[in-house]
Amino acid sequence: MCGITAYCGNDEALPFLLQGLEKLEYRGYDSAGITILDKSLTTVKCKGRLQLLVDELEKYDLKGHVGIGHTRWATHGIPSHLNSHPHTNDKNTLSLVHNGIIENYRELKEELVNKGYHFQSETDSEVVVHLLDSYYQGNLLKAVQKVLERIEGSYALCILSTRHPDEIIVTKKDSPLVIGKTKNASVAASDIPALLAYTKEVYFIEDNEIAILKANQIHFYDQKGKEITKESSIIPYDIDAARKNGYDTFMLKEIYEQPYAIKETLRGRIQNETILFEELKNIDFLQFNKVYFVACGTAYHACLCGAQILERITHLPVLTQVASEFRYNDPIIDEHTLTIFVSQSGETADTLGALRLAKEKKASTIAITNVLGSTISRDADYVLYTCAGPEIAVASTKAYTTQLILLMLFAYYIAQELHLTVNTKAILQLQQVPWYIEKILEDACQFKEYATMLKDKHDAYFIGRSLDYASVLEGALKLKEVSYIHADAYVAGELKHGPIALIEEGSVVIAVATQPHIASKTISNIQETIARGADVILLTTNHYQVKNVENIYYLPNVEPTLQSILTAIPLQLIAYYSACIRGCDVDKPRNLAKSVTVE
Ligand code: G6P
Repeated sequence: MCGITAYCGNDEALPFLLQGLEKLEYRGYDSAGITILDKSLTTVKCKGRLQLLVDELEKYDLKGHVGIGHTRWATHGIPSHLNSHPHTNDKNTLSLVHNGIIENYRELKEELVNKGYHFQSETDSEVVVHLLDSYYQGNLLKAVQKVLERIEGSYALCILSTRHPDEIIVTKKDSPLVIGKTKNASVAASDIPALLAYTKEVYFIEDNEIAILKANQIHFYDQKGKEITKESSIIPYDIDAARKNGYDTFMLKEIYEQPYAIKETLRGRIQNETILFEELKNIDFLQFNKVYFVACGTAYHACLCGAQILERITHLPVLTQVASEFRYNDPIIDEHTLTIFVSQSGETADTLGALRLAKEKKASTIAITNVLGSTISRDADYVLYTCAGPEIAVASTKAYTTQLILLMLFAYYIAQELHLTVNTKAILQLQQVPWYIEKILEDACQFKEYATMLKDKHDAYFIGRSLDYASVLEGALKLKEVSYIHADAYVAGELKHGPIALIEEGSVVIAVATQPHIASKTISNIQETIARGADVILLTTNHYQVKNVENIYYLPNVEPTLQSILTAIPLQLIAYYSACIRGCDVDKPRNLAKSVTVE
């Protein structure tokens, strides 16, 4: 989730580029850079925060009316000066910034290196500038079109050329890009907040459409290079609202970003029915006789689910433990143990402590994290990234579902590597998960209504079995984190061994029953709570007969192993709306921190 800005106008480009980058810093940053075009191209970039770039720029007297800027949130290549954008060609006649992932960059890089191109960085983005150079024969638009035919993946691109000094070419696919028009300039950015101080008049382009920005006009072209017309729109909100993309809170924005985040996490991982984890190709999974999943908070709940699925598929013994326990409980692990550490931030002290212990005991370690270059990614033997983009709300939502999808893929990958029978239907259905989530999000008002049942409650009881138990643990955590309602999750079969004593007239029970081998048992347990006066909200699929429950939400029918991802969405929204109804500060719940770097 990088931030990009572009300016082509009659005034100096730099002030626009920098203010825009500053507005986009909330998307994450590990480095920043700009190129200004004034006869030649001058590129200045810096590892670290934007302020370091601003300080560096004081050493230059950069003047120019055309320029591009970038803040990076690393996906390929560690945060470093060389990996920062913009990227330029060998002759320094072309410069570009990119947001997204070029999936086939390895093949393209090999092809370009064979043609004599020199690569400065480890990024996927740099292939685009050299590819463009290789196709350029005097017509930049045509060269860009040819590049688009070759690159696979997601991208928003802004391109400068010294041969076309009065324009910037921009294009996009599956990555956001918005174009704006001011009195004196045409501008572009990856997100609306970067434009709002200059203009509210914007244009949106569709995937693979191309726009040429000139100071006084903007030309739009379709994929085939035919000129098209576009209507502008007026943005009705201010900068603060725009940072949240029009949503009231970051949490809600992040809930709605899940289809995109999941698509990004899956990108390039499934080819036909084969799962690709290039990063793990040196691991011989036959050497392991046990697997451990270790994490904290929401990531721990993702692990509970991933572990059950892995065990079901591979029949390897799989254990899951909270990191703060694992690190002090002298776990029985050795070189035949595979240990997996999941952490959104990659900086959680307990998870890092647990990872160090596993290394001391010679276990193989894999980190799953959302932050490239984070401590966990540097310390583990292997690392896999979720591509959720920066998560700002303290309560984790999109990081959780991207962890789930990656863990599911990972389980199927191990089965594939062990030559076990793999459920190909589930693998193919994984790719439809974003679409199913969109469908569930359309029912948000239903969950808002369920949330009103919790408005004046002090407690809520969540029940489920098997994978649904992992889901309700996360549902209960979400509710208590943001609404401060005391919520506990129980294995539905354990109700009768204690918790049912708490159920009385008006108690709210939130039940999940999606797993075919056990759902009917949970549904029977629901009846026991109804008999004692509970008001039940049930998330299930239309496979089962349910009586006496007024509030039933039918989830889409997918392969049982995938249900937990879909179940997460209603539970997140019930927690979210409960917190809103109770007037809580959803994005910054009391006493909680996004990243806990102390024990
Ligand atoms: C904190 C956050 C939780 C998060 C947990 C683990 O408690 O508030 O939302 O799940 O840390 O964080 P990690 O970054 O390791 O996933």
